[in-house]
Amino acid sequence: MTLKILGISGSLTRPSRTTALLRCILDALALRLRQPVTLIELVDDAPHLFSALGRAQLAGRAAEVIRAVEEADLLVVGTPVYRASYTGALKHVFDLVDHRAFVGKPVLLAATGGTPLHGLVTEHQLRPLFGFLNALTLPTAVYATEQDFADFRLSNPKTILRIDRAVSEALGQLNLCPADRTAQLASAS
Ligand SMILES: Cc1cc2nc3c(=O)[nH]c(=O)nc-3n(C[C@H](O)[C@H](O)[C@H](O)COP(=O)(O)O)c2cc1C
Repeated sequence: MTLKILGISGSLTRPSRTTALLRCILDALALRLRQPVTLIELVDDAPHLFSALGRAQLAGRAAEVIRAVEEADLLVVGTPVYRASYTGALKHVFDLVDHRAFVGKPVLLAATGGTPLHGLVTEHQLRPLFGFLNALTLPTAVYATEQDFADFRLSNPKTILRIDRAVSEALGQLNLCPADRTAQLASAS
């Protein structure tokens, strides 16, 4: 069975360190799962998404993006730090989604920033967002600063090791099919 592995980059620039980080994570997943993965880049799709201020206005590409996010078996969510948080464009995506689609969905969190001082953005900003959605955020989040890249390619071996750990955690969760996860959550409540 082919799983729906979806990365979403909240970056609004090209080239983008966040997108480069997400590509490393997605490449590692594709290699270990031996299947294709998909990446949504908000630098392309944010204008479509902002044309919908509510679900009722979703159409065309914006509707496709939201459907892909809701239907993913594993989400890899990455954002640059903007003003100590995730980007507004990324938040807009998660304001438009149907929250019921996220119960038990594994989510790998990633971010890039200008300073290590904002490395906890994954814990203080992203994790609570997915907690609200009842998603299953993986324990290992990946944060990289501008110094961890050379010419927009990830170059810090420690970050690459951290990606390996996060990917292993993701694979562990994917052994449960979505139906199993729902049953597990139901029996736990
Ligand atoms: C509008 C804006 C706000 C930013 N705010 C922060 C911040 O609060 N903390 C931080 O560490 N970096 C901040 N940065 C730096 C970016 O997070 C950093 O350069 C990031 O790696 C950019 O990712 P990208 O290449 O994917 O756009 C900011 C950058 C911009 C453009």
